Formats: sequence, structure tokens, C-alpha cells
Amino acid sequence: MQTLPQLKTRWLARHLLYQETMSSTNLVAEDAAKQNAPNGLLVITDNQTAGRGRLNHTWFSPAGRNLTFSLLLRPNLPPATIPQLSLVVALSLVEILPTLPLRIKWPNDVWTDQGQKIAGILSTMSYTGTTVDYAIVGIGINVNLTQEDFPTELQNTASSLRLLSGNHTIDKQQLLCDFLLRFESDYELWLQHATLEPFFDRWKKKDFLFGKQIVVEQGNTKINGVANGITPGGNLLLRQADGSCCQATAGDAHLGGLKA
Ligand code: BTN
Repeated sequence: MQTLPQLKTRWLARHLLYQETMSSTNLVAEDAAKQNAPNGLLVITDNQTAGRGRLNHTWFSPAGRNLTFSLLLRPNLPPATIPQLSLVVALSLVEILPTLPLRIKWPNDVWTDQGQKIAGILSTMSYTGTTVDYAIVGIGINVNLTQEDFPTELQNTASSLRLLSGNHTIDKQQLLCDFLLRFESDYELWLQHATLEPFFDRWKKKDFLFGKQIVVEQGNTKINGVANGITPGGNLLLRQADGSCCQATAGDAHLGGLKA
């Protein structure tokens, strides 16, 4: 993939760094950012040998099957806004595939409506004082994996766009271009407001957790409650058993926990 002929974006991914094999597109994008690579750089590979997930997990992605890429962005915003970016990415992705039963799972995932992971997003950043120098948004999408491609431990918890589409092979380049075009405009909207408020109506239609009893693990702390949407800053809102509301700023959300 040396070029993307069908790409219609104005500035996003107009610079492209492709290698057939890379350690991690996030790491390569970070190196490029430190060497003054431009806003909107797309770093992409077919074979990621040291893909990173959240919480120091590895990212499973066999060569050639999936999309694994990172975007280098230079928003002129405070560092605290950057976690919102993952949610904008997730929304752009689920909305370009309207016929598939995809949902956003706070804070960084795209799941099926049956609770299987389809995509993960890993955002990192560097900042000086109160302004971001660069943000790296890494996206891994399970595109053309078959059931047999998944290791046993992921068989029930993960799926792919192909499996959701009646076993039809998905055109990865077209999917990438569709995503980039949608994300370019969503990112610009986000930049104007620096909050997720303009996305609330769209978000609600795709929120996997909404109305579900969940427990959020934030380090050693566990918060139980019923998921009740997100705040403009990207925190998760929970309604607790005593009727009070609280927010989770980060962490892993699981279904279950204490009933109200
Ligand atoms: C998660 O844990 O859900 C986040 C997974 C993010 C994986 C992507 S694949 C492309 C980019 N490069 C990486 O090393 N990780 C991200």
C-alpha cells in the first residue's frame, strides 16, 4: 500500500508511511512525530510484530488480515482533551458501517451488539505546558479474520467485520479510505468545540453500555452502577444504587456488578 488512490480527504493521511512489517505503528508514528512529521500522517503496516494494546496488553493481529494503523495529529488543545479522541474515532468507525450491528464501548473499543470486540483504539500524546505537541491515535480493526484465525482465548470475546458480514471478504483499502474521510470531518468538528457535546445524539444511538449494569475498574477502585452516557469531557456517567450519579474518568468497564 504505497498510495491510496481512492482517498478523498483534504489533509488527513495525505502523508503516508507504509512498511509491510513494523513493530508497532504507534511506536513508528511517535518516532516520526519527534522528527517533526506533519499533522495527519498515516502510519500503516500489514504485519505488526509488537502491536500494543491498552494496559500493556499485546494486540493480536495476524499478518495481512486486518487494518493496523496510527494517525499523527497535532491539535492545539490541552492534554486533558486527548482521551476524547478515541471516542470520536470509535464513532466515525461504527458510522461508516451502518448495516453492521456495531457499538462503541467506552472508553476505547468498538464491539458488536453481542459484546464481541471488533476494534481497539490506543491514544498516546506528548505535551509541553498546557498544549499538546502531538497525539498518536492507533487503531486496530479485526477485518478479515475467520473464526479459526482467533486463538482459543479470543474465540468468544472477539469477532471480525468479515464474520459479521456473512463471511464476505472486506476491501481493507476502501474501508480505510471511508474511515479517514469520515474521521477527517469528525475531527474538525471536535477541534472546533474541544468537547464531545456535538456528538451526543449520534453517540447515544451507538452506546454499548447505556442502561446496562456495569462495574468500572479504575486501578484498585471499583465503581458499580448503571451506565448513563458520557460527559462532554469523555467521562463515563454511572447511576448508583442510592440514586446518585458519579463519573469514571478511565478504566475497564465490565458488565455485571451490584444490582441497584
Ligand atoms: C486495545 O487494547 O484495545 C487497543 C488496541 C490498539 C491496537 C492498535 S493496532 C495499531 C496501533 N499500533 C499499536 O501498536 N497499537 C494500535
